[in-house]
Amino acid sequence: MKPPAENRGQTTTNRGQTTISLANADASSAGSGKLWSDPDLSGHGLSAEGDVNLSPRRRRYETAHVGEATRAWLDRDSAAFLHQSLSTPCMDTLAESDGIWLTDVEGRRFMDFHGNNVHQVGYRHPRVVEAVRQALDTLPFSPRRFTNRYAVELAERLGALAPDPLGKVLFAPGGALAIGMALKLARAATGRHKTISLWDSFHGASLDAISIGGEAVFRRGIGPLLPGTEHAPPCDPRDCRFRCNGACDARCAEYIAYMLDKEEDVAAVVVETIRCTDVQVPPPGYYRVLREACDRHGTLLIADEVPIALGRTGTMFAFEHYDVVPDMVVLGKGLGGAVMPMAALVARRDLDVAQTMALGHYTHEKSSLGCAAALATLDVIEDEGLLARSQRLGEQALVRLHRLKARHPLVNDVRGIGLLLGIELRHADGRPARDAAEQAMYECLARGLSFKVGQGNVLTLSPPLVIDERDLARALDILDESLAAVETAA
Ligand SMILES: Cc1ncc(COP(=O)(O)O)c(C=O)c1O
Repeated sequence: MKPPAENRGQTTTNRGQTTISLANADASSAGSGKLWSDPDLSGHGLSAEGDVNLSPRRRRYETAHVGEATRAWLDRDSAAFLHQSLSTPCMDTLAESDGIWLTDVEGRRFMDFHGNNVHQVGYRHPRVVEAVRQALDTLPFSPRRFTNRYAVELAERLGALAPDPLGKVLFAPGGALAIGMALKLARAATGRHKTISLWDSFHGASLDAISIGGEAVFRRGIGPLLPGTEHAPPCDPRDCRFRCNGACDARCAEYIAYMLDKEEDVAAVVVETIRCTDVQVPPPGYYRVLREACDRHGTLLIADEVPIALGRTGTMFAFEHYDVVPDMVVLGKGLGGAVMPMAALVARRDLDVAQTMALGHYTHEKSSLGCAAALATLDVIEDEGLLARSQRLGEQALVRLHRLKARHPLVNDVRGIGLLLGIELRHADGRPARDAAEQAMYECLARGLSFKVGQGNVLTLSPPLVIDERDLARALDILDESLAAVETAA
């Protein structure tokens, strides 16, 4: 009998291609802490960043839920778009989005606890829509030779929001592009090119971003990546390479300090302040160690907060949870208010050292529409008290998730910060329960709740921060019912 898909082994050939073997690649368990080092194999290691669009469960979900109207659009989508993992072929066709809700062409509604993390203020927030409409009526595009009031006001606003010494800004139409600008600026400012970043991290899908990213689904089989991009183990107390057994003492940060001591000429350490895909929240000491090590070596600390800044974790910037300020922070996604593609690099003022280089030079660099959307989004976050709301609702949700954990054997850990919540599923022997996580996701979708599965076995909830308390409670009921259904079927 074949072992379950998630137990199968994977080997990488010397051409970087991945083959699947049926050997049980479950885990090496040296020492007291077990290391569940098997990549997700149910989808050829694809599910680190999100759910797999080729899986049998996806097909079964479609068979049960997709009607003719939807099928016609899905077929046209499939014929027109290049296929790629994590998107086309798609699973449903949307007609509308509003507040926390997505509505498909057959009238089904989903609470969107995924939203690609663009929807802190919800969809179609009237103030954001109105701000974009006004800019559209007056200045729909601003060629790069000129500036415009929306861009200046947004740059000033972000510069003022970020703590000193952060303060100078560049915009880009996407997070990966803003990460690219940060990498270029780090090279220009230090005269070095090396970076240290973390395995399992995601910084965008462009070639420079996947060079510092740490997920096989983006890096495999693509050929040479940027030179000098070293990787270190992430802070992941439940799967700690330094065997902290769940009680992180920042040994993983000490290891990065050690790498900096050895390598000496590293331009930048690039980290997601809190890893979004599976809600990894490093302990307070982690960033102190990194900050001190970077300072000792003249290395810049770059915080990638593309999905988690602007209130997701309960603060404007996630690094505010730690007593450190990075040398650069990268923002994106929700900055465009779930309307416009918009990202920003906010750097230390004294890093304004690249006047003769083009760091960004993107056509939509000072997008009047994007900046108008961002200004309105910041207004909404402030005026509707969304930072405090995110904290309060997040704490309430976490209390419920702990109760849920007590009832569901599959739930091995629940964690969260603000309205970024993770429910980690493992089997009784500690193996990541990836198949069950995928099943739980489709059970929830069938009941009208959409969310992301990170690293294959973590249900990641990131609802709009404007969510009504009753809707949040209903979503957690759906999760509860769905986990029960998965456990009953097992
Ligand atoms: C942590 C992080 N950095 C960067 C990016 C890239 O942003 P974009 O998709 O806008 O290029 C993402 C996108 O998911 C992300 O999660």
